[in-house]
Amino acid sequence: MTATTIRRLQPGEGPIFQAIRLTAMGLDEATFVSTLAEEQAKPASWFEDRVAADGIFVAEADGQVLGMVAIGPKAAAKERHKGMIYSMFVLPEGRGKGIGGSLMAACLDYAREVVEIVQLVVVSTNTVAVSLYESAGFERYAFEPRALRHADGRYTDDLHMWKRLK
Ligand SMILES: CC(C)(COP(=O)(O)OP(=O)(O)OC[C@H]1O[C@@H](n2cnc3c(N)ncnc32)[C@H](O)[C@@H]1OP(=O)(O)O)[C@@H](O)C(=O)NCCC(=O)NCCS
Repeated sequence: MTATTIRRLQPGEGPIFQAIRLTAMGLDEATFVSTLAEEQAKPASWFEDRVAADGIFVAEADGQVLGMVAIGPKAAAKERHKGMIYSMFVLPEGRGKGIGGSLMAACLDYAREVVEIVQLVVVSTNTVAVSLYESAGFERYAFEPRALRHADGRYTDDLHMWKRLK
């Protein structure tokens, strides 16, 4: 296998983002806010718009997308110094090899150019993701009980984490 490379998706590459988002929701829906059905209902333009407006990074090897992460600045004028990181995902066969950490590093390099603070939300029991975020320097600042109610009626809590860049 060739080396894994990380790159930012470019305008016109919405279908790449759409494909890996659908894969992520299909495999790990419980770790995201969106459901697979919600994601499938989004038009292609939603993914294209995100690629144009946000920083969306993919990890690739041998022409295959192995993972992704995204960051979008907040919309309100007084909140534009903050960016939300979302869509962190690595295919199961690529996990534990540093790809998630490399995606986060690329995302933070980009974030330093556009925002002062990065935030993210993670299901509190997702210990692998929480470890990844803590090793990238994120700190917990809030705990939201019963943040998500899943289709089976089960609730999960969210951890809110942040990292100051400037
Ligand atoms: C979370 C996820 C992106 C991690 O990707 P990954 O490529 O396996 O992560 P890496 O190999 O780069 O590991 C990065 C850090 O994560 C943590 N980590 C990775 N695998 C772990 C494991 N099995 N147990 C505990 N911590 C682990 C470690 O802190 C690690 O840092 P270290 O290598 O310096 O110890 C991946 O497991 C995934 O896609 N999970 C399902 C989707 C998900 O939970 N997304 C997050 C939504 S908020």
